Amino acid sequence: MSLRFDDRVVIVTGAGNGLGRSHALEFARRGAKVIVNDLGGGVAGAGASTSVAQGVVDEIRRAGGDAVANTDSVEEGDKIVQTAMDAYGRIDVVVNNAGILRDSSFAKMTDEDWDLIYRVHLLGSFKVTRAAWPHMRAANYGRIVMTTSVAGIYGNFGQANYAAAKLGLHGLAQTLAIEGGSKNILCNTLAPTASSRLTATVLPPEVLEALKPEYVSPVAILLGHETCPVTGKLFEVGGGWVAQTRWEQTQGVFFKDDYCAEDLVNMWDQITSFENSRHAAKVTESKSGIEERLGRKLELAPQKT
Ligand code: NAI
Repeated sequence: MSLRFDDRVVIVTGAGNGLGRSHALEFARRGAKVIVNDLGGGVAGAGASTSVAQGVVDEIRRAGGDAVANTDSVEEGDKIVQTAMDAYGRIDVVVNNAGILRDSSFAKMTDEDWDLIYRVHLLGSFKVTRAAWPHMRAANYGRIVMTTSVAGIYGNFGQANYAAAKLGLHGLAQTLAIEGGSKNILCNTLAPTASSRLTATVLPPEVLEALKPEYVSPVAILLGHETCPVTGKLFEVGGGWVAQTRWEQTQGVFFKDDYCAEDLVNMWDQITSFENSRHAAKVTESKSGIEERLGRKLELAPQKT
């Protein structure tokens, strides 16, 4: 079965270069109408250029596809969504991909390093997605992809700002998966590794060659497709390797009565033993240990506003 996107409208942010460009070309090749968003700035977020997004639109059109350019920052997500509505009247898929780096050890990190990274990655993805959300809800259909990073999942020296924003994106995705489920809006997270201008200076040439962005895009395609089989999940992808990553919880230890820090020292091996570990996928599942202790279900009242 070929995964087609005929009559689907796809927003790809940061689609002027690297991964976003590769995703946009592939969505278009499969029949999607694509909003190619890119501010056209530098790796660290400075400057802007309208030609970057337009270049990818031209490439798509030359190949017989349908696309329009948008050059707003993701911080103005409503304008990007408006471009999609004006051009095509609907939005089916949002791939939040735009990104920059402002690496610095934590000791030297400035407020600006922190704010800029937060604004482009986490706030930008929020703004674009929130603007698309009412259209998706009204259509009872939506596919959203967040782009995180192994730096966010595991931490990375010099990337405290980036790691915090990137893991925040998965938190956002997991909650949108819950809130969007009843409206057929699915939201998943992709952690790519690919050669691009962001990685050109940190990876050797032979490794960059093995990590083409085109090796990541098939996962964005499946997660963006109507047959997407999952929601709220996290995938690590690079160089042709595709894997799912999830949380792992130890069985834990119950202290029957009051306990003190010294009791923790005594039981530490057991508290931290991953033998018979659990993989909670919901808040209620993660609390199952506490439920055993209480002898009843811990109901969390759904917040509907
Ligand atoms: P890239 O630099 O080639 O592409 C990112 C694009 O986002 C650029 O064209 C840039 O102009 C655009 N952009 C930046 N700020 C923007 C804004 N405010 N509004 C609109 N567009 C903006 O980088 P790459 O590697 O393709 O990165 C894509 C995404 O993947 C980023 O979110 C990045 O953090 C993430 N990522 C990439 C990894 C890699 O190995 N290349 C590893 C982990 C995550």
